[in-house]
Amino acid sequence: MDIIKKIAELKLVPVAVVEDSENAIPLGNALLESGLPIVEVTFRTTAAADSISILKKEMPDMLVGAGTVLKIKQVNAAVRAGAEFIVTPGFNPTVVDYCVTNNIIIVPGLNSASFIEWGLERGLNHFKFYPADLSGGTKMLQAFSGPYPTVKFMPTGGINNDTLIEFLKLKNVFACGGSWIVKKDLIASKKFKEIELLTKEAVSLIQSL
Ligand code: 3PG
Repeated sequence: MDIIKKIAELKLVPVAVVEDSENAIPLGNALLESGLPIVEVTFRTTAAADSISILKKEMPDMLVGAGTVLKIKQVNAAVRAGAEFIVTPGFNPTVVDYCVTNNIIIVPGLNSASFIEWGLERGLNHFKFYPADLSGGTKMLQAFSGPYPTVKFMPTGGINNDTLIEFLKLKNVFACGGSWIVKKDLIASKKFKEIELLTKEAVSLIQSL
């Protein structure tokens, strides 16, 4: 399966901070129920690897990635747990090279022309644009389309249901990422119905595109 293609079909990657792996399944269920069978579990908590492995085991149809990956050690833990893609906030050449060499799908974060060229040098064409809102938003992405017509972005950071569509309408955007539909507090306080409502709202916006 082409993972990037699948992400591009779904168009939205919920970025989740899971503090207790017990919340992984109800979170997965809320996303599945809402028609969004994908999640990026961030390595900001010690429960990340366990959460990924539980999700992959119990919900094989769900596309599960690892986010906030800063070290090779975390890449290995994520892959061992079953993560199908790696997302990083910044362009760490050590982590990127390790993934490229080992055929691990990585969407590295960046917000400048120089880093795009680092990625192109390594044969990559898909990047996370982070933090999207503070880095110039849609205008910056439009500016990148001139010199880098083959490059596609996943803007993430500060996006919500009000701004999602303006990003997704851009030709060089393959998906958006964000935590607004799976807010950390909602997961921690087990408000999975609320997650479902927010996600359904986002999915219906995407369907109206
Ligand atoms: C990330 O790690 O990608 C960001 O925390 C997501 O940004 P957001 O929380 O502003 O959506």
